Parts: sequence; C-alpha cells; structure tokens
Amino acid sequence: MCGIIGYVGYRNARDIVLEGLKKLEYRGYDSAGIALIKNGLFLFKEVGEIKNLENEVPEISSNIGIGHTRWATHGGVNKKNAHPHVDCKGKIAIVHNGIIENFKKLREELEIKGHKFTSDTDTEVIAHLIEENYDGDIRKAVQNAIKKLKGSYAIVVITENEPAVIIGARKESPLVIGIGENENFIASDIPAFLKYTNKVKYMEDGEICEVGRNEVKIFDLDGNEVSREEKIVEWSIEEAEKGGFPHYMLKEIYEQPKSLMETMRGRIGEIEPFVDLGIGLEDIDELTLVACGTSYYAAMAGKYILEEIAGISCNVELSSEYRYFGKRKGIVLAVTQSGETADTLAALREAKRHGCETIVITNVIGSSATRIADKTILTRAGPEIGVAATKTFTTQVLTFILLALELGIKKERLSHSQAREYIASLKKLPMAVKEVLDKGEEIEKLAKMLQDNESIFFIGRGINYPVALEGALKLKEISYVHAEGFAAGELKHGPFALLTSDTPVIAIVSQDKTHEKMLGNIGEIKARNSPVIAVADENDKEIAKFADYIVRYPSLPPFVASIPITVILQLLAYHVARLKGRPIDKPRNLAKSVTVE
Ligand code: F6R
Repeated sequence: MCGIIGYVGYRNARDIVLEGLKKLEYRGYDSAGIALIKNGLFLFKEVGEIKNLENEVPEISSNIGIGHTRWATHGGVNKKNAHPHVDCKGKIAIVHNGIIENFKKLREELEIKGHKFTSDTDTEVIAHLIEENYDGDIRKAVQNAIKKLKGSYAIVVITENEPAVIIGARKESPLVIGIGENENFIASDIPAFLKYTNKVKYMEDGEICEVGRNEVKIFDLDGNEVSREEKIVEWSIEEAEKGGFPHYMLKEIYEQPKSLMETMRGRIGEIEPFVDLGIGLEDIDELTLVACGTSYYAAMAGKYILEEIAGISCNVELSSEYRYFGKRKGIVLAVTQSGETADTLAALREAKRHGCETIVITNVIGSSATRIADKTILTRAGPEIGVAATKTFTTQVLTFILLALELGIKKERLSHSQAREYIASLKKLPMAVKEVLDKGEEIEKLAKMLQDNESIFFIGRGINYPVALEGALKLKEISYVHAEGFAAGELKHGPFALLTSDTPVIAIVSQDKTHEKMLGNIGEIKARNSPVIAVADENDKEIAKFADYIVRYPSLPPFVASIPITVILQLLAYHVARLKGRPIDKPRNLAKSVTVE
C-alpha cells in the first residue's frame, strides 16, 4: 500500500506535495519521491521518512507536481526503486500504487525495443509504455498504455511536454480527485488534500482522468467522457486517515477482502491450475515453523494446511523457545508480520548459524527478517497500524494455503481437478469475507450479550483450534476480558472445572470429519449450563438443536473457511472492546512490534 498525490494550481507544488505525503505516511513508507515541473522535469527521491526527502528537495517555484510514499512490493528498498519513475528521456514521470502482474514480459518487450530501465520495480514499465505510446497527447498515451497492464494500479502521471495537466488512472487501487478553486488535487486518500478542499470526485475502476488547474475530466477506457458527481467529505483529518472508521483496527478488518485479493494476485491460475509464490520452492518433506503471538497461531494453522494438502510434516515452535531448545535442522520458516520481532529474528539467526535454509513469511519488505532469511514470501496485506493483528493474520493463513497448494501440485499429491477446486474456492474468498463483514450489526448484538462476562472460552478442532486461540487472543488483548482458546477435545481434561452458567463458550464448527465430535463437545458444555455460541457453516442444519446463538459463515472448504471464521472473531473482539470503552488501537502494555527478547 503506497501513498500517491498530485497537485496542479497556483500554490507552491513542492510544499503541497510534501505536506500531502506526510499525511499519507500512515499508509506505510520505506522511501519517498517527488517530481516537479518548472521549465523541465525535476526528480528527487530519498530512502526513509518524508523528512529525509524534504531536506533534499530545493525551493523550486513550480505549480504542478506529483509525489509518492513507497511500501515496497517489487524490488528492494533503495533510491533507484523509489518513485516517481521516468521514461528513457526523463520527460514523463509516474507514481503508482498496486502490482503489475505481467511486468516481466512487458519489460522484456520494451527492452527489445531499446528502452533502458534503471530500477527493479514493476512500475517503471508503465513509464516506458507511456513513452512508447506518446505522440503529443499524454492522456491518450496513458489510455493506450494501461490497456496492456495486468494487475492493480492507481497511477498519476505528468510530463514536461504538457506542463499544465496531471493524468490519473485506476484499477483496483484507490484514487480520488480533490476539487479546489483554481487548483485541483489527486491522491490515493483524502487526508492528503483535506486541508485545502473537502469536495471530491471518486474515480472508478477502468477510468482515466485529466486534471488541470481549472478543469477535471474523467474518461472511460475508450476515451469517452463520463460524468461524476461531486461529493462533500465531512470527516476530520483524523477520521479521514481511518477511512471514516472509528479505529484503525476496524478499518483494517474491513480491508480484508482487498488484502486477501492482493495476497493471491498473480500467484494463482485456475484453468491450467498453478500456484507460484515466486521463490522457486522444490520438494519439501519437513519444515520447522517459528513465530510469536498471532503469527504463531498462523503457523499452527499452517501446520494443519501443509500436512494435509502437501504431506509436509511440520514442527511449530515459539520463536522464544526455538532459540534455546529448537530442532536446528532442515528448513526453518519464520512467520512475522513486522519482520522485526526480536525473538523471531533471534530464532532465524540461530537457524542460519546451524546451516538451516531459512524462509520468512512477512508483510514488510526490507525488514530485518527479509535481510536474514534466504527467501521471502510477502503477505501483501498493506501496513497495519492497529496494534492487534487482523488482516496480517488472515493473509498469513492464506499464504500457507498457497504454499501448500504450490507444493501439493509439484509433489503430485493433488490432482488437477482437486487443485482447480481449491483455487476456485480461493477466488470466492474475498466475497465470502465481505459477506461476513456485512454481519457487523449481528455480531455487535452478540458482543452486547457477552460484554459483562468475566471469562469467555473459544473451542475448535483441526485448523479451528489455532483459530480459537487467535479469537481468544484478540478478545483478551483489546477488551481485557479473560479469554482462553482450547482444542475442543481438551475441555474434559481440566478446563471443565471452570465452566459455569457465566462462562460462554464460542464453538467453531466445521462441516467436516470433526462435525459430529464437535456437536458432542457442545452437548457436554450445555450439560454444565454454559451458554454456547456456535460459529457454524451456513448449511449446518443440526447445529440449531445444540447452540444458544449461531453466527453463520459462508460454506467453503475447511482451510479456506478458517479465514471468514477469523473475521467473525475479530469483529466480536472489536465490538466487546468498543462497548467497554477500551483504547482499541493501542491496548495497554502492548506494542505493535516487540523488538526486545
Ligand atoms: C497480536 C499481535 C502479536 C504479534 C506478535 C508477533 O494481535 O499482533 O501477538 O503477532 O507480537 O509479531 P510479528 O508478527 O510482527 O512477528
């Protein structure tokens, strides 16, 4: 998730663009850059905070410019990969948010035509494609160039040949135009320009816009002008940063259909079934998984997934334990959203010291873990600001499903038709998560029923066991309600002693080989007078005879269903915490990244 902004008007573009970039920093940044036009195109880039860039950009009195904060997805974090990117002649500059799936092929074609590339990014191909299509009309050149792109993009383009106009285009990445008086803005998010105007026009997928100082025009892909209503945004800057949600955590929960789509983008194909995470994995029979907290629960889920789909036996260890007691052989795969958790970094170093091959599943390219590990798989969830992990957990679980499918196909453990079925169910996943998100009010009602309980249990079998642990962790960390997750079969071995009519049990029920046993477990709990809330498949008819309250999730294969199930538990934790008035985005005593061992 990058942040982009463009400005054209009467003010100093340098200052407006830099100020806009600072307002977009919450979208994540590892480097930033700016392009300004003043009798030619000027380009500045720096690694790190916007402040570093600000110190480097001289006072140029320009009235048109574009800027970018980068959250890397292709190519390392360095100056040459920072945006804006330019064409061969340095006359066209572009900033981009998204992923171009076919950039390798396009780059090869453009190189054959003589284009010279200076970065490792997918974005640079767009600059050269526009150059290739440019014959004096920048909008037409962008229109023709984007027809060749596969993937997601919000782009903003300027050229010194037409110094009064900014071109924007979008597909599956946000882009919004800010309408001012004798000035206009374009950005990935409203906070970038909200100080100057609250009048906006939202761009839709497949549209191109031409933004001048006094005029804004929007076109479809064939160049036909489309009309767009102007909207007034009533948000404060702080509300706008949260996309109108009261907390980052809720915003991030609702971002999951999109983040899951990004995790899969360009990595799966259905017709001739393939899954490719792009790190050239070969046959693997055994893996040691290391992680902390929520990422540890994702690793536990990963064990169920890898063992069943790909026949890989997995040993899951807490990073803090692995370091002193772990099995230091074979391949070690670390899971860490931040890539900076001290215990996980120590575990990775320890594994390397003993000659293990190391892989990391992380959300942050360029993080310490990516520098230690031999191979990196990015979850592509975009930056997560709320302390409680949400979208990073579900994209980690999805990454494990992709990994298992890739290896299962390679090892011929999966037939083509099985692989195809899995891939088809993954394609339904973003929609299934959306369906669950639409149950917000129903889950809020449940939260009202549970908010005064002192202790809440979560149970599940198979992959639903780590999901139950994660549900309990979410609830305890943000609402401070005591919560425990258990493998459903384990209650009778001790925890039953804690059950009373004041201890609600949230039972995650799948329509698989565990179904009957789960119903039995629920019966045992009911016999001890504890209320049972079932999280159950939409097609589960029997559950109504057992549970006191049911939240349904869309029917999907069990591993895939674990993701919408998790979203239900995230929303439940969120609403309980909100009703209790907790500081949801920054729970007491917790930090987003735990950099001490
Ligand atoms: C809980 C949470 C933590 C992290 C843990 C590991 O919501 O976020 O439990 O999962 O601190 O962090 P990463 O994944 O960055 O290594």
